[in-house]
Amino acid sequence: MVQLFSLIAAIAASVLPNTVAAVGLDEAALAKGLLYFGSATDNPELTDVPYLTQLSNIADFGQITPGNSQKWDTTEPTQGTFSFTKGDVIADLADANGQYLRCHTLLWHQQLPSWLTSGTWTNATLIAVLQNHITNVVTHYKGSCIHWDVVNEALNEDGTYRTNIFYETIGESYIPIAFAAAAAADPDVKLYYNDYNLEYGGNKAAGARAIVQLVMNAGIQIDGVGFQGHFEAGTVPGKSSLVSVLQSFTALGVEVAYTEVDVRIQLPTSATTLAQQSTDFQNLVQSCVETIGCVGFTIWDWTDKYSWVPSVFSGYGAALPWDENFVKKPAYDGLLKGMGVTSTTTATTSTSATTTSTTTTSTATAAHWSQCSGNGWTGSTVCASPWSCTYQNDWYSQCL
Ligand code: XIL
Repeated sequence: MVQLFSLIAAIAASVLPNTVAAVGLDEAALAKGLLYFGSATDNPELTDVPYLTQLSNIADFGQITPGNSQKWDTTEPTQGTFSFTKGDVIADLADANGQYLRCHTLLWHQQLPSWLTSGTWTNATLIAVLQNHITNVVTHYKGSCIHWDVVNEALNEDGTYRTNIFYETIGESYIPIAFAAAAAADPDVKLYYNDYNLEYGGNKAAGARAIVQLVMNAGIQIDGVGFQGHFEAGTVPGKSSLVSVLQSFTALGVEVAYTEVDVRIQLPTSATTLAQQSTDFQNLVQSCVETIGCVGFTIWDWTDKYSWVPSVFSGYGAALPWDENFVKKPAYDGLLKGMGVTSTTTATTSTSATTTSTTTTSTATAAHWSQCSGNGWTGSTVCASPWSCTYQNDWYSQCL
């Protein structure tokens, strides 16, 4: 029965026109002058072959970020002993796929090894430990990373410094010290400060701008600010306020990027909340497209199957553009729309973020019953409303 169904579907797919090349997320991003559209990933899920296949689909993802494997507890589990095995798997994957690697992260208050958190440190000994860690990790990945998130989440919501081990022992100068160590180890990689809830502007964003100025005033390299972009559906600011906040950073002379975007939904989802999520993703990516100096957009993994959200936000999930069965949600179309691609229009050149003029032809939507994905598929990946591209096997997905 299933075979008969597949046969009918394959025949239907072969007779329906799919003459125009599909546009993926990264292709749409490049057409708008961004450097990449990307996804985080993590080592355990790489054994899931259909997952790995889509992560490696460079039409959608031109960049990947290791979600955990470059953090301190993984890279220096014992003082002075470094382990790059897990991080290298992801760096090698990016290299093999021709994807940029965003490297994440050198200093954070979470996922620290116990030798560090339970040690007794003076100002001088902790600076030495911090510099040794950064020097070793950045040197190992020299030439592989497009960006390093040097300092992650150093701020409280009111814009004051978070009292982590580094701040308590060294004071605010741990931040310029960290950037200086990273710059010395790899002068070519772009160095970022990265945090969440900056998108609302206000005190926390002001604190992040103060960090940029603190590092710059010390004569030390800082190139960018990462907007993590972890949201609940319906709480994303409007597009123009997002643009204003991004611009308040680029005005300081740094670039910006969305680095960890997900838009969680209170479960169970409904058509309404999925539509809201789609609008939220659209506004977020469009704010980047419309900001000169916003270089890229990264989602915090691409499928709900491997999202961190359900484990951290009780009662929430469904935060990513693909569901746990790898079927695209309305959010995928929202992202394309935010980058100027709709079923009936063509992507046009960004008004602001690019100097070259590029035009990408978008796809016609695939009709009910048509093929919309699968290994080697080059036709439309967007189904006509209300159909969804539904995974059948690695070689065949269908608009159902
Ligand atoms: C998360 C990972 O996705 C989880 O797997 C891990 O258990 C905790 O950290 N901000 C960050 C990311 O900068 O490193 C975090 O990643 C999510 C919040």
